[in-house]
Amino acid sequence: MTENTPWSRFGGDIGPWWSHALFYQVYPRSFYDSNGDGLGDLDGVIAKLDYLEALGVDAIWLNPVMVSPMADNGYDVADPRDVDPMFGGIGALDRLTEAAHAAGIKVTMDLVPNHTSSAHPWFQAALAASPGSDQRERYIFRDGTGPGGLHPPNNWVSIFGGPAWTRVVEADGNPGQWYLHLFDAEQPDLNWDNPEVFDDLEKTLRFWLERGIDGFRIDVAHGMAKPPGLPDMEHIKAEVLLADMDDDPRFNNDGVHDIHRQIRGVFDDYDNAVAIGEVWVYDNEQFSQYVRADELHLAFNFRLLRAEFDATDIRHAIENSLAAAHLVDATPSWTLANHDVDREPTRYGGGAVGLDRAKAMTLAMLALPGAVFIYNGEELGLPNVDLPDEALRDPVWERSGHTRRGRDASRVPVPWEGDAPPFGFSDSSDTWLPLPEDWATLTVEKQDGDPASTLTFYRRAIELRRDRAEFDGPTIEWLDSPADTLAFRNSGGLVCVLNTGADAIALPDDEVLLSSAELVGGKLPPNAAAWLV
Ligand code: GLC
Repeated sequence: MTENTPWSRFGGDIGPWWSHALFYQVYPRSFYDSNGDGLGDLDGVIAKLDYLEALGVDAIWLNPVMVSPMADNGYDVADPRDVDPMFGGIGALDRLTEAAHAAGIKVTMDLVPNHTSSAHPWFQAALAASPGSDQRERYIFRDGTGPGGLHPPNNWVSIFGGPAWTRVVEADGNPGQWYLHLFDAEQPDLNWDNPEVFDDLEKTLRFWLERGIDGFRIDVAHGMAKPPGLPDMEHIKAEVLLADMDDDPRFNNDGVHDIHRQIRGVFDDYDNAVAIGEVWVYDNEQFSQYVRADELHLAFNFRLLRAEFDATDIRHAIENSLAAAHLVDATPSWTLANHDVDREPTRYGGGAVGLDRAKAMTLAMLALPGAVFIYNGEELGLPNVDLPDEALRDPVWERSGHTRRGRDASRVPVPWEGDAPPFGFSDSSDTWLPLPEDWATLTVEKQDGDPASTLTFYRRAIELRRDRAEFDGPTIEWLDSPADTLAFRNSGGLVCVLNTGADAIALPDDEVLLSSAELVGGKLPPNAAAWLV
């Protein structure tokens, strides 16, 4: 059971701890390598807990660390109730949980219920068994269509490219059934119509929650349920992580809500444990269903992350995200980055302007009511890295026939110190992805203590959000502001002004708490934001 710690920073109870928490996403293989094998690990996270404490994070979210052949960096789980030796084994996770809790930091993990690894004993048993067997019923096996079952059962494509079906060889040595995998062929989809699948997930949840884990980010939380009869896709969308999937038969099927209610039933046995869904659904009404009182506590609303650096677009994203949450009285959650998307400075135009915009967006995000998520390296202003072909590791690169480079560019390890790669990330120069030479100015060591650094700016912003009651309102009110700008007041009292236009703008007559760029003659320059009280 997790400790009962109501969130009461200001003497009053403002809801469960996660309702205003700042989550820090640790991509474990890229955070810090404690044993010199070129891959980050959990003892590496322990070694850097003081850094996270100084940054002011309330919780960490660890990308998957369970036992895995790492076909998709751990999102292919072979044993959901153990930690991969690559990350230090389960002992390292226990040590991390204990040390993080001692530092007042919650620990959340990634949970992957939509699929397993093809190396999972269940899938191996399914391959060895015959069509129609109980073993195959845990996954989605179907006969093919056309002469001799030569063609896949339907036209679904994998998110990573190519067909979503792979044909197996049966015991008699002949080609046989096909199995469904919405992602890599090493990630067979589970059959959520089979009660054994939930029973096993429940075991997994209880296993970790009993060990003191404070919650889970649930991978592909809009997946799992499949539509009866597996109808063809009308519009073929491959790059769907960022596409609109509201009318896509592979995702967001009604049955998913029963699954979330079952999962929530388990969470409700553990005080303060949080379930956070990865939900790539845009329609407000449909999105809101995932955060009803008996489903997920929080769900990533990716509208803000998808917005261009444009005041109208950003306002639209904020309004809709709030509207979706308010439909069911849920807590909004905000994110600008994760391990699946381009880093913000790159997305917003690259170079100094891209970084300025990223910082401005951070102020806008941190001023909003609800929970926020930042991704390791965001606080250093890391951009995407142009990696050479031979360095690419994401299965997307191979599965797309080298037409999509995948997500490695935003997964490069964190630069800690020194003047040359791997910048203290590892004792080995052979890191799983190479760090670029020009990150010498972006290391924690270089930025630490520099009043003008991105890191100092993030620390200050997070500290203010944490300490000041003006950030704690449950709603916002839009204020009049010139074209190409936006201004809102958090009902706690904080005013945030964001300038996406070409000219500097005058600010209201209040005290400036923080600005993402220096004011020019008292005005807020382009590509900047300010907080006022
Ligand atoms: C989620 C993860 C992504 C992973 C995929 C398959 O979208 O964030 O990294 O590849 O699910 O598990």
